[in-house]
Amino acid sequence: MFVDRVLSGMRPTGALHLGHYHGVLKNWIRLQHEHQCFFFAADWHALTTHYDATAQIEPSVRDMFVDWLAAGVDPSQAVLFIQSRVPEHAELHLLLSMITPLGWLERMPTYKDQQEKLAEKDLSTYGFLGYPLLQGADILVYRANLVPVGEDQVPHIEFTREIARRFNHLYGREPGFEEKAEAAIRKLGGKRAKRYVELRTRYQEQGDDDALAEARTLVEEAQNLSMGDRERLFGFIEGGGKMILSEPQSLLTEASRMPGLDGQKMSKSYNNTISLREDADSVTRKIRTMPTDPARVRRTDPGDPARCPVWKLHEVYSTDGVRQWASEGCRSAGIGCLECKQPVIDAVLAEQKPMQERAAMYLDDPTLVRNIIADGCEKARDVASETMRDVREAMGLRYA
Ligand code: TRP
Ligand code: SF4
Repeated sequence: MFVDRVLSGMRPTGALHLGHYHGVLKNWIRLQHEHQCFFFAADWHALTTHYDATAQIEPSVRDMFVDWLAAGVDPSQAVLFIQSRVPEHAELHLLLSMITPLGWLERMPTYKDQQEKLAEKDLSTYGFLGYPLLQGADILVYRANLVPVGEDQVPHIEFTREIARRFNHLYGREPGFEEKAEAAIRKLGGKRAKRYVELRTRYQEQGDDDALAEARTLVEEAQNLSMGDRERLFGFIEGGGKMILSEPQSLLTEASRMPGLDGQKMSKSYNNTISLREDADSVTRKIRTMPTDPARVRRTDPGDPARCPVWKLHEVYSTDGVRQWASEGCRSAGIGCLECKQPVIDAVLAEQKPMQERAAMYLDDPTLVRNIIADGCEKARDVASETMRDVREAMGLRYA
């Protein structure tokens, strides 16, 4: 069967907060039950912007893994690993750099944006310019077809597809490809061969993705094909040569609407976060001191939830009943703000409780995390090295 393979990376930037949980991790946790998932700490990516502050990387990676595990990312479902422990990413990045037009990188919207945003840093480096290609290598080396990312990263996935296409075009052609592909179709046998041809036509003429998926499954399930014929048939569906690198799709993660303590989006740079494993006293204090509708100066002044950051948290955490109670109580001055905040405090603490418990287990026994990562790195390397074998061979770098 054709299995979807999901891959995503996160830069290690210190303790994760509830915005990461609601925006990214909940999504990963759902995906890990539906597909084969690879999630990694993008430590080389951190170097592209923080090459002068390397001391933070290692502890950030460690904290980030504990946060993932605490949130419910399950190492028996998903492969968890560290980018720099799988050197195949670097090898593929180097080889792809040979065929990557500079203009494609220079035109990447994140290139200028980030340079402006981080104006205090000198980002006119080779590594920073090439970071979308490193990301492309991260994805292609696993032949991942689904990549959960935020909107800002979608151009990187599109770029990755273009690189894969260029690679396949340059190196996927073998002499007599068409004839060999036709011969491989005949080996499928009458009925399946006919179906394959139909699906290929449907995909090529109408761009029908279901036809593509079904044709792939059909090829995948054919028992009597050699590895080479199988690859040819995969490639032939899409027209070109052998499909050595497969083109990924982005799986757009809805922009996190998780509000921070001041009503803006929760973000470390706004200093308005609650961290994933923040202790209960601190969570309570932070929410109790949150600003509310500025018009409610006294307890007897009625308020308007639409002007209150606490209300946004009710929208994330409260049931309809609680929301109605808060909204009516606010407008009629029937409840005080501290009263209104209590169900939010309770809900955040309840959400964090199982996370605290899981984290405690991993913090008590650091070898657990070490073993999970060692195991994940090994699994990742197995997949990545298989791709690299094909890549080297296609590029004429297989020395006997
Ligand atoms: N560039 C991504 C970010 O800054 C992180 C990342 C690196 C990534 N490699 C990846 C995401 C591969 C998805 C797939 O958020
Ligand atoms: Fe905000 Fe609730 Fe106070 Fe109204 S009662 S201002 S919604 S905290």
